[in-house]
Amino acid sequence: MGRSILEWGHGPGGTISGMLRFLTAGESHGPGLVTIVEGLPAGLEVSADALATELARRRWGHGRGERMSIEEDELEILGGVRFGRTLGGPVAVLVRNREWPDWQERMSPAPGDGFAPLTTPRPGHADLPGMLKYGTHDARDVLERASARETAARTIAGRLAKALLAEAGVTIVGHVVAIGGARAGGPAPGPGDLARVDASPVRCLDPVAEVVMVAEIDRARAEQDTMGGVVEVIAYGVPAGVGSHAHWDRRLDGLLAGALMSIPAIKGVEVGDGLAGAGRRGSAAHDEIVFGPEGFTRGSARAGGIEGGMSTGQPIRVRAAMKPLPTLARALRSVDVVTKEPAGAPAERSDTCAVPAAAVVAEQMVAWVLAGEMVRMFGGDTVGDFRGAVEAYRRRLARF
Ligand SMILES: Cc1cc2nc3c(=O)[nH]c(=O)nc-3n(C[C@H](O)[C@H](O)[C@H](O)COP(=O)(O)O)c2cc1C
Repeated sequence: MGRSILEWGHGPGGTISGMLRFLTAGESHGPGLVTIVEGLPAGLEVSADALATELARRRWGHGRGERMSIEEDELEILGGVRFGRTLGGPVAVLVRNREWPDWQERMSPAPGDGFAPLTTPRPGHADLPGMLKYGTHDARDVLERASARETAARTIAGRLAKALLAEAGVTIVGHVVAIGGARAGGPAPGPGDLARVDASPVRCLDPVAEVVMVAEIDRARAEQDTMGGVVEVIAYGVPAGVGSHAHWDRRLDGLLAGALMSIPAIKGVEVGDGLAGAGRRGSAAHDEIVFGPEGFTRGSARAGGIEGGMSTGQPIRVRAAMKPLPTLARALRSVDVVTKEPAGAPAERSDTCAVPAAAVVAEQMVAWVLAGEMVRMFGGDTVGDFRGAVEAYRRRLARF
């Protein structure tokens, strides 16, 4: 029997059978979040500690709310790993919600009647379109799954992808380049700078911009408002040729843009100089090709390491713009969907600014796409096979 169209379905990072794919399940205030990652080769080192450290990176950052400390994640590897290494089957991880005891009545999976429905949707959230689509007067039916808490589950998948990429000599670094009107100057972080980035309360390496960013967040919080910003992710060590020009849905820039756009509150994506490049002349917008002792090199890095939907061998550089968070302590106007009367949008505990956290989530999505494309390209049932195929390819490139 032939395969169904769904089995052959295609998406960011590749969902074709035999490739990497992941699925998450769970609600923000449910018992926990589950991540299932399929397609990892056997022998990849995985530890609950490494996953927990990555989750802690996502939780942290100036501007995040009280929930973040409560959220402290307790995780359990449920399958696919034995004695610290993947077995080749699906890897399943559960991240428990420590607040569950307080929520088990409100979020009970057992049959029953609603529990104090939330009838006023919050603008800027999934609430109203979700209520209309799924035919519910209780915004909680929608917002619990739409919550960015789901990005904790993605962080598990991203951390596993990073472990695989490390085997191929690829390192991913995310940082913040703007919060509100404050923009970072100075050099971008290098492959060894992640700890330095993480040491900044706003994940920004420019010390002057960092101070302004912190002050802007504090001012917004005092005024019961929120802030957005821009994050950048750089992938070092990706060999030339990852992705493909041959099909629209295999172009690496398209896959990265889709994956970054899938992060809640991300509203714009740039590859390389992106929008700024559109205002330049062609003579000042591309990276000329030079040949020397190191092989093919470029005099500049404007394209962000991607040409024709494929990596060029230069660092891959992408940016994502995050809107100011939509839950405001100073309620935005809304309407009660039952009474049709005007009402202030409810404000559950919420962040003032989650741009530093979004930099970590963006790392995960970039890692996921690159790992998916590299698995597609190099395959291997064991990590050694995968690494060997990458090394052989690098040798071929060096001889070109
Ligand atoms: C890491 C992270 C944390 C977030 N925290 C909040 C928050 O505390 N309050 C809020 O209103 N939105 C928060 N958001 C954004 C909302 O989840 C998002 O705006 C909403 O789900 C609607 O999706 P959309 O903005 O993509 O349309 C966060 C997003 C991310 C990536």
